Amino acid sequence: MTEKQTPIIIGCDHAAVELKNKIKAFLQERGIPVEDAGTHDTASVDYPDYGKQVASQVATGHYQRGILLCGTGLGMSMVANRYPGVRAALCHDLFGAIMSRKHNDANILVLGGRVTGDILAAEIVAAWLETPFEGGRHQKRLDQFNRVS
Ligand code: RB5
Repeated sequence: MTEKQTPIIIGCDHAAVELKNKIKAFLQERGIPVEDAGTHDTASVDYPDYGKQVASQVATGHYQRGILLCGTGLGMSMVANRYPGVRAALCHDLFGAIMSRKHNDANILVLGGRVTGDILAAEIVAAWLETPFEGGRHQKRLDQFNRVS
């Protein structure tokens, strides 16, 4: 299985369900298996319930990669980064998405459904999936902050 075909677990709250569905379709069109942790409609929900589901699956290694979406992406980032081994990156542009992989080995991509349009979001997802971690001095830095948790 190539890096690009690594199964993805995806989750969102009501503020980003539309973008979540578009990203899910974008992934499936590319043959990437997607586990959808919800939410599935626009009824108001609490983003931690969905952030915790996705982050825990990545933290335990059941999924290597996850994508989380809420209105701003901020709440989901805060929830996900409480989990040991999770490196969640809120990305608003391609540069951030690429660098979150190259330097930070981000294993959860976070998007804001009320911030980022669907075309840019799909480009961000593609760049994030395709960019490898550079390792080396960046691995040393990840090791430094992994020791804190
Ligand atoms: C929901 O209204 C909103 O607070 C949520 O989607 C997210 O933006 C929180 O950080």
